Amino acid sequence: MSGHGTPIPMISRKCGPLKGDANVPGDKSISHRSLLLGAMSIGETHVTGLLEGEDVLDTAKAMRAFGAEVTEHGDGEWTIVGVGVGGFAEPDNVIDCGNSGTGVRLIMGTMATSNISATFTGDASLNSRPMARITDPLALFGAQSVGRSGGRLPLTIVGAAEPTPVRYTVPMPSAQVKSAVLLAGLNVPGDTVVIEKEATRDHTERMLAGFGADISVEETDEGRVITLKGQPELTGQTIVVPRDPSSAAFPVCAALIVEGSDVLVPNIGLNPTRAGLFTTLREMGADLTYENEREEGGEPVADLRAKYSPNMKGIEVDPARAASMIDEYPILSVVASFAEGDTVMRGVKELRVKESDRIDAMAKGLRANGVSVDEGEDWWIVTGGKTVEGGAEVDTVLDHRIAMSFAILGMATENPVRLNDGGPIATSFPIFEKLMADLGAQIARSNA
Ligand code: S3P
Repeated sequence: MSGHGTPIPMISRKCGPLKGDANVPGDKSISHRSLLLGAMSIGETHVTGLLEGEDVLDTAKAMRAFGAEVTEHGDGEWTIVGVGVGGFAEPDNVIDCGNSGTGVRLIMGTMATSNISATFTGDASLNSRPMARITDPLALFGAQSVGRSGGRLPLTIVGAAEPTPVRYTVPMPSAQVKSAVLLAGLNVPGDTVVIEKEATRDHTERMLAGFGADISVEETDEGRVITLKGQPELTGQTIVVPRDPSSAAFPVCAALIVEGSDVLVPNIGLNPTRAGLFTTLREMGADLTYENEREEGGEPVADLRAKYSPNMKGIEVDPARAASMIDEYPILSVVASFAEGDTVMRGVKELRVKESDRIDAMAKGLRANGVSVDEGEDWWIVTGGKTVEGGAEVDTVLDHRIAMSFAILGMATENPVRLNDGGPIATSFPIFEKLMADLGAQIARSNA
């Protein structure tokens, strides 16, 4: 679990052209959901390409604690023998979800409509994040919860013994909230309806259908209306996890800003609810192409080629696209530092409640390294130019995406960029250092 270990200081230096293939790990969102739905199914679920980052490993441990048989076979291959919908056992101990908001929030959904209790905790980052957004809708099913002030972890949920179905409009664009309500709805007699005004990543809906649930989605004036019929029998599936577009973003963006680069990122999941960054980069003038577009396991997939793009321009990013690139704003702000003019990012209040306050963390680190950043509660503007000074140390605030973004910044700045702690990278991208080194990056552990 990140944040529990000794800090790993790192230094990232200007490097030569990046070349080669970047085989990034499996998708984090789909990996979590494979374990959860496998655990709630009857029979065996066979997963290949599972992301073996700390976040997902914590979810695997949690599913064992609720009674599922979860077995690791090596190299991303896992099997889960589930206990069926409503079959969760009460865990003997506290569930520690480490750094993972997705893990803890979705797990709360899975157990909230069973007659069991569970107590959840995490690292300092997770224990500071808002949980009322989950416990409020779960209370409508009849689940009770007690946590710290502001509804923060550690927190105990007493599941509803006789849950009633819910019709819930998600108040903020959040796939985690939507998913927690849908997962809770699985063990409830009758229809659970979730309405989202803005579309967010739809892996839960796709995977529930794949595991045999009766789920329908209707686009209406109110937004996306998702209806799930309760108490289905889910059956174990074979899942090939596509590679994570949010992880792909790092080598892709590095290639755009490091002179002479040409990098291919094969097999990237390009679900439209996740691919907003790549559209935005192309609008900025990035040399980014999709090759070999196809569909695998119900998700659109392609190979992505990124080449050095010296003539990128700042743009106003379409706020309607925010949910489809919400995890990519930190690395976008790094690219924006090398794009001429202003990159304006609006409608991004959710960035303030991620693993860290990501607008604050990026603004501080970019300014320290010579980039001009202006910010408000739900917007920020990065003013870019041909060169960036670098030379400062940044605080990675227990946030993997902040750490990786500054490691990429240092690859193109005039002076090296230092990270006070690269440890959080292991939550989502455990092979980041090796993969980037193989492409030609010079990122070193500075205490080694
Ligand atoms: C995720 C949803 C997003 C995202 C997170 C993963 C998911 O969070 O930031 O990294 O797998 O459902 P929100 O739903 O809170 O926006």
